[in-house]
Amino acid sequence: MIKVLFVCLGNICRSPAAEGVMTQMVKDNNLSDKIWCDSSGTSALHAGSGADARMKQAASKKGYKLTSISRKFTAEDFDQFNYIIAMDNSNYNDILQFPEAIKEKVHKFASFCQKHSLDKGVPDPYLRDQKGFDHVMDILEDGCTNLLGQLHKEIS
Ligand code: 4NP
Repeated sequence: MIKVLFVCLGNICRSPAAEGVMTQMVKDNNLSDKIWCDSSGTSALHAGSGADARMKQAASKKGYKLTSISRKFTAEDFDQFNYIIAMDNSNYNDILQFPEAIKEKVHKFASFCQKHSLDKGVPDPYLRDQKGFDHVMDILEDGCTNLLGQLHKEIS
């Protein structure tokens, strides 16, 4: 089983949406027994909460259901997961601050995007309007498509 963890700041917007998109793509490609996805946040600000209603709305418009509950990223995640994917550069730097960090496992989500060029990573939509959340969804579909392609090669 390849285990993939998406990580943002609050784990209520970008990373739960990435988890929802990737999980659906994995299911559509009959790979649910080979790839498993989860998400977490570098902060515990929203621990225990479901995804932000605006993120759920943007995901729902594209046919994705977001079910994950926010939790904080922990050092154990370095052992549990094969791919730890940071949604933006700040998340990436925070993850690598852990003394237990396994750098080879940590990636930037933007590095999987082909249609979007994102210097700082996936933009934080929290203080933006609904359009910001819709834009995040477009970015997530772009990156997850290519991530799935890479994992598919790894499996076969
Ligand atoms: P996320 O978005 O990191 O994509 O879940 C945010 C959610 C909450 C906050 C910031 C970003 N916050 O400051 O509460």
